[in-house]
Amino acid sequence: MTAEQALAAVGGLPALEHVAPYWDESMAAMPSGGVPFLDSEAVRSNREWCGFPAAVDTVLLATAARIRENPALSALIWHCAWRVYDAPEAGSVGKWPLFPQTLGADGGVFYLLVGLSIVPRLRAHHGRLGIPEDVTRETCQQPRCFCGNYDRQHPGALGIPLNQLGWLRHYTREVYLRLGRFEYWLRPFAGAVQVFRHCDTGEVIALAENGARFDRDGYQPRDADPATLAAGWQSVLTLSRGSVTGTPLAPWGKALRQSVTLSRTDWKRILGRGDWILQIHIPAGGAMTRDDVNHSLRRAAEFFASHFPDKPVATIQCTGSWIYNPDLERFLPADANLVLHLRDVYLYPIASGGTDGLWFIFFQDPFDPASAPRDTRLQRAVLDWLGAGNTWRAGGMFVLPEHVRRLGTTSYRDRWPPQGLGL
Ligand SMILES: CC(C)(COP(=O)(O)OP(=O)(O)OC[C@H]1O[C@@H](n2cnc3c(N)ncnc32)[C@H](O)[C@@H]1OP(=O)(O)O)[C@@H](O)C(=O)NCCC(=O)NCCS
Repeated sequence: MTAEQALAAVGGLPALEHVAPYWDESMAAMPSGGVPFLDSEAVRSNREWCGFPAAVDTVLLATAARIRENPALSALIWHCAWRVYDAPEAGSVGKWPLFPQTLGADGGVFYLLVGLSIVPRLRAHHGRLGIPEDVTRETCQQPRCFCGNYDRQHPGALGIPLNQLGWLRHYTREVYLRLGRFEYWLRPFAGAVQVFRHCDTGEVIALAENGARFDRDGYQPRDADPATLAAGWQSVLTLSRGSVTGTPLAPWGKALRQSVTLSRTDWKRILGRGDWILQIHIPAGGAMTRDDVNHSLRRAAEFFASHFPDKPVATIQCTGSWIYNPDLERFLPADANLVLHLRDVYLYPIASGGTDGLWFIFFQDPFDPASAPRDTRLQRAVLDWLGAGNTWRAGGMFVLPEHVRRLGTTSYRDRWPPQGLGL
């Protein structure tokens, strides 16, 4: 069966260009006995590992049976899973159809079954890495978190937003796992800031990479208009054997329009391009209480030090999210969980603008402020902020593993500025 024939049989032909890539390769790998992850026992077991209640078995098993009995849907779901997990390169299934002609309102379940099929792959991968089973179970929660987003898009329906499904590939190939509130991806740092620590006082300062473009306020506007760029400025960073001169980044997430010189006898670089970091990702669902967040960060520092001692982590870091938008401190209440968390970590600016991350709050693509929902306090606060003409940003943050014990004390801001730098 070709991709065209399969799609024609289930009313999905308009999506052919999105479904066709790698069709021959995935079909060549398809088992003759059917798609293993549609087997009822596999569905039940995967559902249980992913933390769904048994009540969802009815719709999962019924949809799996309908797909099993339909050769075109069977080929398509196999191809979808192969594309997500096995294809030689990551690819999006974001423009695949929901098959309303054959699956009615349960099109999302087709993709949830693909999401649940992460379980045997993740168990095998974690087994090879020596990850304990309880951590594998925590990591398996992501399809359920994605379902929460799908539910906000299609109230009452079960599924995974199509644009999120492809992300599951990373968990099965990388050192990428969940510990409490956050997920952590152990990977080399790709740059954007350098971090230095004073050898005696332990003070910390982040410097911008050379040539980053900042606006008048010390943020990095992406796609800024010419007037903003004309009023802006560029960072400097020069490293010599004896010293480093650069543009300081204040821990509340702004670049300062001045330069500092650090003596390399006193200051040690602890983060630069290529160093190992724990890149944080924030799964949806549940609050980000200070206790939960800090407990997760402490667990991460300990867990990775003991399980991956050959990859010492320079920072625990989010390289970019709406959650680290420094402006949240200006428009959310002072005791909001997100505001408390932002004060505990070292924020830094990243190139951002437009509608970065608003999908995670409004679940619209494209974002439309006129029709965006105002159902939650977060949604109302963001819409009011944007409605008042403010710019939307994302930001980055880091915490040093040695500082996880003092989380909850706003320590980076309390120790700012470092002594003797003229800041
Ligand atoms: C960040 C997040 C955890 C909220 O944390 P929090 O502020 O501690 O959560 P709270 O439970 O205190 O919720 C505060 C308010 O925000 C609302 N809210 C929480 N998550 C929301 C979301 N994803 N979209 C819209 N509103 C949300 C809550 O309903 C609540 O409003 P209400 O009292 O009117 O119901 C939550 O937004 C989330 O899970 N986001 C999705 C994940 C995400 O964005 N990841 C980053 C990707 S770059």
